[in-house]
Amino acid sequence: MKILVTGGTGYIGSHTVVLLIQEGYEVIILDNLSNSKIEVLDSIKEITNIKPQFYQVDLLDYDGVKKIFQENEISGVIHFAGLKAVGESVRIPLDYYNNNITGTLNLLRIMNEHNVKNIIFSSSATVYGMNNESPLYETMPLSTTNPYGATKRMIEDIMRDLYVSDNEWSIVLLRYFNPIGAHESALIGENPNGIPNNLLPYIALVAVGKLDHLNVFGNDYDTIDGTGVRDYIHVVDLAMGHIKALKYAMDHTGAEAINLGTGNGTSVLEIVKAFESASGQHIEYVIQPRRPGDVATCFANSNKAKELLGWSATKNINDMCVDGWNFIAHVTNN
Ligand code: NAD
Ligand code: UD1
Repeated sequence: MKILVTGGTGYIGSHTVVLLIQEGYEVIILDNLSNSKIEVLDSIKEITNIKPQFYQVDLLDYDGVKKIFQENEISGVIHFAGLKAVGESVRIPLDYYNNNITGTLNLLRIMNEHNVKNIIFSSSATVYGMNNESPLYETMPLSTTNPYGATKRMIEDIMRDLYVSDNEWSIVLLRYFNPIGAHESALIGENPNGIPNNLLPYIALVAVGKLDHLNVFGNDYDTIDGTGVRDYIHVVDLAMGHIKALKYAMDHTGAEAINLGTGNGTSVLEIVKAFESASGQHIEYVIQPRRPGDVATCFANSNKAKELLGWSATKNINDMCVDGWNFIAHVTNN
């Protein structure tokens, strides 16, 4: 069975491609390489012995995407491709709306034309906004505070409307919490360009000595130690959630939003400690004011994923830090 993975050379996509291949699926990757490297294909081959078929195509190139569907009998799509940096989305909103929304509309229209009606979409916990209290349930009202988040909420709406218009569609909207860590081989992981915005890539660069300290954004929240609490999830657990969602979509029609989180919250300082013990490195940190737009606490209720998909997270914070550290140490030494 051929599965098209958009954004398949990216961080979460590459881990999902590895699992798809290991589960016996034939994988076709579409990526424009705007935020990933072609070498990821070699790493996937090193892990699985199979190099997936690859198209360097932009989702904004309608004819280019169409050609992939003409050349291949595709049974389902996992749609990761998108721009994802919150701060950047505030600076260049039109690029975010164009890339994420127009790209997705192109994909959906072409899928429809080719009668491919199974799609798993990368949504985000960001759609819960600032006003819901954790644990976050799929039924809670949605709101967003930046263009990136708005694209996720709008795409969810577009896909729900699509299902209402045509009940043959099978759509799973996976709302990710905070994916971290890397494949246990240390061959694929997250290695952003420039100075990272997210906590774990930042800590990793402090650990390897490329940055001299971590800025901790606020220690006066109403949490266990005053620092922000998040639901960190190992990227391989997250990837496995997509395999289960794909199997579910093959057997059910509908448009279901499903949280992928562990259901547990961990504070910034708890993560610092866990990363220190995983890496054996000291992480210097400085307390700074709160970061605008941050909530104190954000974690999932993960019952729906268990009930509908038979999925729950298996890896703990120590696994996430050990695998994340091994990857960054591997990248730094090569
Ligand atoms: P990533 O940037 O590593 O991967 C996205 C991939 O999509 C990249 O390889 C990029 O080159 C590609 N891409 C972007 N626009 C494209 C286009 N127009 N055409 C073709 N390819 C394009 O990001 P990731 O962390 O793997 O995230 C994957 C998805 O999950 C994204 O949609 C992101 O918004 C969503 N998500 C990520 C997180 C997270 O914390 N990493 C959390 C929630 C949701
Ligand atoms: C990020 C995304 C959000 C997405 C979510 C889940 C941003 C701003 N938001 O949120 O859209 O839905 O992931 O994938 O990117 N922190 C520090 N110092 C740092 C970086 C972070 O103290 O240098 C703290 C933050 O204040 C927060 C925690 O670490 O409490 C996690 O931050 P981050 O990794 O950026 O993720 P989120 O803010 O949860």
